[in-house]
Amino acid sequence: MSSTDLSSLKNDSVHLSKANGAVLTYGSPTVPSPGEGEILVKNIAVASNPKDWKLSLWGLFEGIEGNDITGTVVSVGSDVTEFREGDKVGSFTRMATGDQYGAYQRYTVTPAATSWKLGNVKYEEAATLPLAVLTAVLGLFDKARLGLEEPSASGKPQGDHSKEIILIWGASSSVGSFALQLAKLAGYSVIAIAGRSGSLAKKLGADVIIDYTGKSDAQLKEDILSAEKSFGEGRQIVAAYDAVTTETTTSVLVETLGSSPALPGGRDKRITTILPSKLEGTHSSSGPSTVHLVRTNVGDSHNGSEEQKKLTSRWIRQLGAWLEEGIFKPNVVKVIPGGLAGVKEGLQLLQEGKVSGEKLVYRIDDTPAQ
Ligand SMILES: NC(=O)c1ccc[n+]([C@@H]2O[C@H](COP(=O)([O-])OP(=O)(O)OC[C@H]3O[C@@H](n4cnc5c(N)ncnc54)[C@H](OP(=O)(O)O)[C@@H]3O)[C@@H](O)[C@H]2O)c1
Repeated sequence: MSSTDLSSLKNDSVHLSKANGAVLTYGSPTVPSPGEGEILVKNIAVASNPKDWKLSLWGLFEGIEGNDITGTVVSVGSDVTEFREGDKVGSFTRMATGDQYGAYQRYTVTPAATSWKLGNVKYEEAATLPLAVLTAVLGLFDKARLGLEEPSASGKPQGDHSKEIILIWGASSSVGSFALQLAKLAGYSVIAIAGRSGSLAKKLGADVIIDYTGKSDAQLKEDILSAEKSFGEGRQIVAAYDAVTTETTTSVLVETLGSSPALPGGRDKRITTILPSKLEGTHSSSGPSTVHLVRTNVGDSHNGSEEQKKLTSRWIRQLGAWLEEGIFKPNVVKVIPGGLAGVKEGLQLLQEGKVSGEKLVYRIDDTPAQ
């Protein structure tokens, strides 16, 4: 409920479409009331994800998109007790569902379940987390994906996993750099594959870095196997998080993990991908190990099983607390000038593959007056 008259609020938004790209519209749409389990947020900083340009360009969703928001609560749905008007929050909004959930506007409706209180964290830094960090959480900890053991609430390993190596392909990306930090906090050893921003993966705790640039598939395979050997006897790659997912990454991973010695008990080596792949669902056993490829979809935070929804709801709060305590690092923030007027430029940079080791963030107040 709100003491604010929502009809008095002026909204501005960026509409994404296949025909016209990103178009800033002043004075629309009207600000909706939050429904059951939802809050209405006055946005302060929002961030872009690669899917934002893909969905509109491919005609899969046209309208107001973007899913990473931070700001202050304006109104709460009647059944929401955790948040109050004026709270500083961050949130992962519903993807490709309706204009009210889009981040590229002044006011956004979002599920309370995937929102958290910011505390003293900067809006711009918190805005780098929601979609990407929950993709990392689901990929690593969901039983249907890699199913790794989670770190404790204080950010410590719960078991001894130092002999278990997780390979993270794309460890300097937004999703990959979050997966890397979580795997390290859970106590696993990490081999990171990165390029221009490999130093970021090192800073975030990767044990070994492999530079992928200019390498053939055969060379990459060799690099992964020798990185694995460098950990010494009894230490093995047990799973891989493919935060890039191309034909190269998936086939190199399936072949490499399959060709190295089997895990104790013959259990599967799991690989999670984040884009559709021809090899999805593959149970490959051409070598001594059986490899199983399964895709992660961050949409499960809102539309998955009860267990998946509970996992992401719990983790977004945990990570919010860890940001404040400095246990967990946000992505490096790159503020695009112009607020909502900068979204077009930001999506162009992502589409052209010009974003390396950074997250593109927009300050809503930087939007020029009409
Ligand atoms: N399934 C889902 O639910 C889901 C959720 C989130 C994202 N995604 C998808 O996941 C992908 C990554 O998203 P993001 O937000 O993390 O992207 P991002 O941060 O914008 O990705 C840019 C990074 O990718 C790295 N990179 C590019 N090609 C690489 C390669 N061949 N090997 C290793 N690293 C490579 C670059 O590393 P260097 O600069 O170091 O070379 C760069 O830092 C996108 O395709 C996105 O659509 C899917």
